[in-house]
Amino acid sequence: MAIIMDGKALAEKLRAGIKEECGRLPRRPALAVILVGEDPASQVYVRNKEKDCTECNIRSEGYRLDAHTSEDQLLGLIDVLNNNDLVDGILVQLPLPAQIDQEKIIHAIRPDKDVDAFHPFNVGKIVTGEAGFLPCTPAGVMELLREYDISASGKRCVVVGRSNIVGKPMALLLLRENGTVTVCHSKTADLAEETRRADILVSAVGKRGVITGDMVKDGAVVIDVAMNRDEAGKLCGDCVFDEVAEKASYITPVPGGVGPMTRLVLMQNTLAAAKAHLV
Ligand code: GUN
Repeated sequence: MAIIMDGKALAEKLRAGIKEECGRLPRRPALAVILVGEDPASQVYVRNKEKDCTECNIRSEGYRLDAHTSEDQLLGLIDVLNNNDLVDGILVQLPLPAQIDQEKIIHAIRPDKDVDAFHPFNVGKIVTGEAGFLPCTPAGVMELLREYDISASGKRCVVVGRSNIVGKPMALLLLRENGTVTVCHSKTADLAEETRRADILVSAVGKRGVITGDMVKDGAVVIDVAMNRDEAGKLCGDCVFDEVAEKASYITPVPGGVGPMTRLVLMQNTLAAAKAHLV
């Protein structure tokens, strides 16, 4: 039976350090959080981010825009926030309504305020390994692995999912730590054949039950990034948890695994942005 990796406890521990550091700065770091529309899941995520800010001694500025907001209106708000010296980080919750071009919005956020690390300037730095903002979910996974003394170096790492938010940057961070990385996706010919080779398996598909026990090697480390809901509306990941936990040496639960670590890295990035703005 696998050891369950407690992201909630680790995030709580690390938050205390962030809070303390924020309190020592000449002014509180500030994060602007923009939500367009009323997607229920996004509303929960945004509320949690604002709660984390309060706990970390970070000032949050919430902007709730209605679902019919135009691209120009959103670009106008980003321009104001880009030029406000009292705002360190800008986060636009994704997904955006169809009338708004997501790429245009990501490009409009000033890279030094891009605490999601979605801007191509920051993505480029992740590719080359230069210092900069780290992508929240992948960096949270790496912190969790470090906490449990799990090194990616020389290991076969298999990432399932190739999104810009998780899969691609996750592969890059594992590669940076000298993992031998495979990225699987919807066109992968035989997913189980790939996942069965993994020493470290990261699943970021967003489909309940896609990772079953027979797809996991004995002793593998399994990181479940997904946030799905079962028929009863309960949060669950990609893995059939009981089956996979039988085979794995370590596994992250959903909830309480990667999610809290993602939120933690957002706070770390906001603090880093503030420090850079305060020198
Ligand atoms: N939607 C789902 N995950 C994220 C995230 O990490 N950042 C933003 N801005 N939107 C998201």
